[in-house]
Amino acid sequence: MFKIAVFVSGGGTNLQAIIDQIQSGHLTNVEIACVLASKTQTYAQTRAEKASLPCVVVRRSDYLKLSEYDEAILDAIKPFAVDLVVLAGFLSLLGPQFIANYRQRIINIHPSLIPAFCGPGLYGIKPHQAALDYGVKITGATVHFVDEHYDEGPVLLQRAVEIRTGDTAEVLQQRVMKEAEQIILPEAIGLIAAGHVQIEGRKTIIRS
Ligand code: GAR
Repeated sequence: MFKIAVFVSGGGTNLQAIIDQIQSGHLTNVEIACVLASKTQTYAQTRAEKASLPCVVVRRSDYLKLSEYDEAILDAIKPFAVDLVVLAGFLSLLGPQFIANYRQRIINIHPSLIPAFCGPGLYGIKPHQAALDYGVKITGATVHFVDEHYDEGPVLLQRAVEIRTGDTAEVLQQRVMKEAEQIILPEAIGLIAAGHVQIEGRKTIIRS
């Protein structure tokens, strides 16, 4: 069984999509070994509990230094011996120590078509507002590997979503979650678990 840790900070709709895909048998040979939340009382935690998944809370606000937080989350997930860390709406920064321990074994879902509308400060609802402000007609979501550079690791999957006249950032966010994020994140996990993904330099190669 391919074991994953899912890191969350908020509503957990992406976590739910992974749970649903496993429970419906569409995502096979994958087990959510643990859920790690960076805050208390997130709805993501409630979703984890409803699905009877082990959930650990390691609050970012309890640590002054990023290196201390890195150590704490490394310790927290160590017992679960996971093959992959999935950032599913995890809005805390990971430090170099954590990334070095899980090199090429961390993926993130970002709510835009990278390299557009990404980077420091652009998370959650903000990439959607930025896309509307710029006036682009298409946006979407990206699953990428995580390295030391914010939102810059090799792109694995992307899915485009149309922007419609009258969209607000909230409406667009819901459409991107439903039509892109919740599809490509479980798909990316399945591809990696099946051994179909190779990283070459800054690119990924998907073999069938
Ligand atoms: C999602 O839209 C995810 O793409 C975004 O936060 C939201 C969390 O939703 N992540 C980022 O912006 C990371 N840069 P969720 O908690 O309901 O899955």
